[in-house]
Amino acid sequence: MARILTGIQSTGAPHLGNLLGAIRPAIDLAHQDDNESFLFIADMHSLTQIKGGSDLRDNTYAVAAAWLAFGLDTQRSVFYRQSDVAEVTELAWYLNCFFPYQRLTLAHSFKDKSDRLEDVNSGLFSYPMLMAADILLYDADYVPVGKDQLQHLEMTRDVASRFNHKMGETFVVPKEMVRQETQLIPGVDGEKMSKSKGNTINIFDAPNALKKHINKNIITDATPLEDPKEPNGSVVWQLYQLVASAADADAMAEKLRAGGYGWGHAKKDLLDALVDGFAQERDDFNRWMSDKAMLDAELAKGAERARETAQPVLQRVRTKIGF
Ligand code: ADP
Ligand code: TRP
Repeated sequence: MARILTGIQSTGAPHLGNLLGAIRPAIDLAHQDDNESFLFIADMHSLTQIKGGSDLRDNTYAVAAAWLAFGLDTQRSVFYRQSDVAEVTELAWYLNCFFPYQRLTLAHSFKDKSDRLEDVNSGLFSYPMLMAADILLYDADYVPVGKDQLQHLEMTRDVASRFNHKMGETFVVPKEMVRQETQLIPGVDGEKMSKSKGNTINIFDAPNALKKHINKNIITDATPLEDPKEPNGSVVWQLYQLVASAADADAMAEKLRAGGYGWGHAKKDLLDALVDGFAQERDDFNRWMSDKAMLDAELAKGAERARETAQPVLQRVRTKIGF
C-alpha cells in the first residue's frame, strides 16, 4: 500500500477550474482502494503572504468545505489543517539546519520575488523546508503536485537524502507524481481560468449571482440570433461541454449550427447545467460553511489521526539528532 500525501493551498473558495482540474482528480486518487492518503490545507504556508486571522481561517474553511462537498471521504483519507499539527514546524527547523542556505536562494518561490527583497519575509525564504517537513513527517511515498511544485519536491528529496546520509537512515525519500493537466478549464474570457486573471466561475455562488456573472462576462461574438453559429472555439460551448452530458453538449452544438438559437439561449442552458448539475455540491458546501463547528470537528479528527503518524517519526528524528 502506497501512502500518498498532498498539500492544498488555502486560497478561499475554489473555482470551477480548481474543482474540475485538481480537486476531483485528487479525490478520485485518494479513493483508490490500494492507496492511503493524507490531504492537508497548507495554512502555515499561506501565512507567508496573508496576515489576518479571519482571512486565514475563512480561506481554510472554504477550501475544506469544497473538498467535503465534492465527496472527499474522511474515513478513507486523513484530512487536516497543517497548523493543527504543530509538530511540522519542529521538523522544519531540523531540516533547515541540514540544508544549505545557497540551495534555498535558488527556490523559485523566493527567487521570483528577490528583486523586491524588502517584501520577502524569512518564512517565504524557508518555505521549501516547511513543505519538506509536511511530506517527511508522514513517511509519504508519493506526492501528487503540479509542475510548478517540482523544484520544491526535489529539495524535499535532497534534504531527506542529506539527513539520511549524515545521521543514518531516517526518512522515506518520496517520489513525485506529476499531475497531468488533462483538462484546462477556460475562464469567462476564454483564457485559462485563474484567480489572478479575475475570469473565474464560482459554482458555489448563489444561482442569481451566477446568472448575472455569466450573462455579463462570458464573451461571445455578435452573430445575430437567427444565424448559424460555430460552437467550436466558443467559450459558452467549451464550458457547457465540461459540465453537461455528452448528449446535451452535442445537442447544443447542433442547435447553434442550425441557427435560431442565440448565445443568450446557450448561456441560459449553461447556467442551468451549472446550477442544477452542482446543486448537491452547492447545498453541501453551504451546509458546511454554515456550521464551522462541524468543519472544525472534522478537521480536528483528521489532525488527531495525522498526529498519530507524525509523532513517532518526529521521535525517530530527535533520537537521530541526539536530543
Ligand atoms: P489559480 O490559477 O486560480 O490561482 P491555482 O494555481 O491555485 O489556481 O491552482 C490550484 C490547482 O487547480 C492546481 O492544481 C491547478 O493545476 C488547478 N487549476 C487551476 N486553474 C485551472 C484551470 N483553469 N484548469 C484546470 N486546472 C486548473
Ligand atoms: N506549496 C504547495 C503549493 O503551493 C502546497 C503544499 C504545501 C504542498 N505543502 C505541501 C504540496 C506538501 C504537496 C506536499 O501548491
